[in-house]
Amino acid sequence: MERRKLGESGLDVSMIALGTWAMGGTVETWGYVDDRESIAAIHQAIDLGVNLIDTAPIYGLGHSEEIVGKAIQGRRHEVLVATKCGLLFPQSKDQLPPRCLSRESIFRECEQSLRRLRLDVIDLYQCHWPDPQIPIRETMEALTTLLRQQKIRALGLSNFSCEEIAAAMEFGPVHCLQLPFSMLQRRAADDLLPFAFEHKMAAIAYSPLSKGLLTGKFQPGDRPGGIRARDPDFLGERFRRNLRIVDALKEIAAEYGKTVTQLVINWTAASPGVTAALVGAKRPSQVIENVGGVGWTIDDEDQARIDRLLEGTDFVP
Ligand SMILES: NC(=O)c1ccc[n+]([C@@H]2O[C@H](COP(=O)([O-])OP(=O)(O)OC[C@H]3O[C@@H](n4cnc5c(N)ncnc54)[C@H](OP(=O)(O)O)[C@@H]3O)[C@@H](O)[C@H]2O)c1
Repeated sequence: MERRKLGESGLDVSMIALGTWAMGGTVETWGYVDDRESIAAIHQAIDLGVNLIDTAPIYGLGHSEEIVGKAIQGRRHEVLVATKCGLLFPQSKDQLPPRCLSRESIFRECEQSLRRLRLDVIDLYQCHWPDPQIPIRETMEALTTLLRQQKIRALGLSNFSCEEIAAAMEFGPVHCLQLPFSMLQRRAADDLLPFAFEHKMAAIAYSPLSKGLLTGKFQPGDRPGGIRARDPDFLGERFRRNLRIVDALKEIAAEYGKTVTQLVINWTAASPGVTAALVGAKRPSQVIENVGGVGWTIDDEDQARIDRLLEGTDFVP
């Protein structure tokens, strides 16, 4: 699989990365997930040339990191592991994860992630969300200390605005941005993706399948639960509109002998400024289909057809 530069970090990443949020496997978020299937999915991805695996402490409160750590035993040299800091474990099920990017908390979280992942060094360490309570200088100084100590190899920011990233860049290198970008959420094309390109940062597009909506497996009468239940893309008229778009995309995909999932991943990974499409999966069969999303090209005429289909669809969640 084609590899691209992870900004100026010296690392190269596959244009499809594997997301392991769902492998955290809490019933409240993604429903039941079988750990053996998760591990098999990670192995399948590595076998097919995916070299970037993204996780976070908050995904299943450590469980996703532990699964990744287990899966890469004996295959460490084949993968780059990305994890995150800055979202602490909530005290109860009703509480949102508290944000914290203080120096002390980052150091503590980094040690915990290294232990769960069974690693000596984290390849890409990302602030999960900004923390307005902590000066960005303190956060960046902690992260650059970890770079110097060789506990992390590259530094990323996720869900930061251009202004917040520019402020962070005053105090250290930013190699990579992680941002929401999909056919249904294209806002980053106007600001974050050109910003990343201009500043030679990688841009990793998360939720490219809109949490599975763009795979074509949902029907108008469905009421998906868990994490999807409160996502406006899965609600009411907007859900039905999205499904009509998916039907039209299926027709374009079929002309290439591809599935709609593969068309969507291809479109995402080929979008200007995108370094890698970060696609989540729970089982090997999904990984096999998803990897078939690259290695071919959507022609200009069909690109224009897709643009027309998507006109007026980019809502703020
Ligand atoms: N930085 C952040 O704040 C942030 C936020 C969100 C996500 N992320 C990262 O981005 C990754 C991907 O995002 P995401 O998990 O939200 O959504 P996604 O990649 O848009 O969708 C992934 C989900 O779609 C379903 N799926 C995947 N491949 C499929 C296939 N071939 N056929 C049918 N269904 C398929 C699976 O769920 P089911 O089997 O349950 O349908 C899978 O968990 C995450 O795992 C995480 O690493 C980061």
